[in-house]
Amino acid sequence: MPSIFPSEHSLGCRIEGVDLSKPLNHYDESLIIDAFGRFGVVCFPNQVLEPAQHKAFASRFGSLEINVAAGPYTVPNHPEVMILSNETIDGKPVGLGDAGQDWHTDMSYSTTIAFLNVLYALRVPRRNGTALGDTEFLDMCAAYEDLPHGIKKEIEDLTATHDFDKFWSKMVSLPGSKRKPLSDEQRAAKPPVSHPLVLRHPISKRKALYCNVGYVTRIDNISETASDELLQFLFRHQLKEEFKYAHSWTEGDVLAWDNLWTMHNAKADYKATEIRSMWRCQTMADRIFL
Ligand code: SIN
Repeated sequence: MPSIFPSEHSLGCRIEGVDLSKPLNHYDESLIIDAFGRFGVVCFPNQVLEPAQHKAFASRFGSLEINVAAGPYTVPNHPEVMILSNETIDGKPVGLGDAGQDWHTDMSYSTTIAFLNVLYALRVPRRNGTALGDTEFLDMCAAYEDLPHGIKKEIEDLTATHDFDKFWSKMVSLPGSKRKPLSDEQRAAKPPVSHPLVLRHPISKRKALYCNVGYVTRIDNISETASDELLQFLFRHQLKEEFKYAHSWTEGDVLAWDNLWTMHNAKADYKATEIRSMWRCQTMADRIFL
């Protein structure tokens, strides 16, 4: 029987007593969906998963994405399982080493947006016994609720453009980056898309600010100056400390987070010799919005 241990923040809980390597029964599945709607970031500690089991769990909540830039960085025969790792073997990177190392919301650049990111920790860097490479989160329902009334009214019916290349190009431009610019095919596979600035969460029914600094380039149908000013305000607002929660990793953690009301950042506070390795599945919001 699973037990839920909420964090002391608006985001985050731990669910113990569930083995994700086995098919979920309906009771556990509804308890977990409910936890996504109440806590947004859910940790399942002490898991031992094969890639097929990782996929089976993540796909209970929606279809799985095959990332357009995954290229060689997927588990053999499992293109849905992406390897996020700074490890190199014979000088070759085994995974995407800098994935998610700035604030963003996964897959907001897709026509069908992402519901969950399901990350499984294989190796966690530690220095003097302290885990490094936390994943940090921002609560976008709290950010929405904290907006001035006038801004809430202004953005209620607006949409914004999200562009995959914004985050990717920023990472490419960082000193020492191993990423290559997106190819024409990759860009064509993920052209910019528009989404409402305010989403109503399908489980909690709360409103969330859906405007992440990582991918949003423009607020649609207003002047460029007005868009720049509003984005500057929203980006500053959403990054406030009071909305923040961080997950400190232990090997065997499966962390599933809800991208509809969170933004996240993989904290790059470890060196190239300190290995952080994760497997990632991304679950689309195609079922949760039905
Ligand atoms: C991601 O943004 O998908 C990865 C986050 C992490 O590695 O902590």
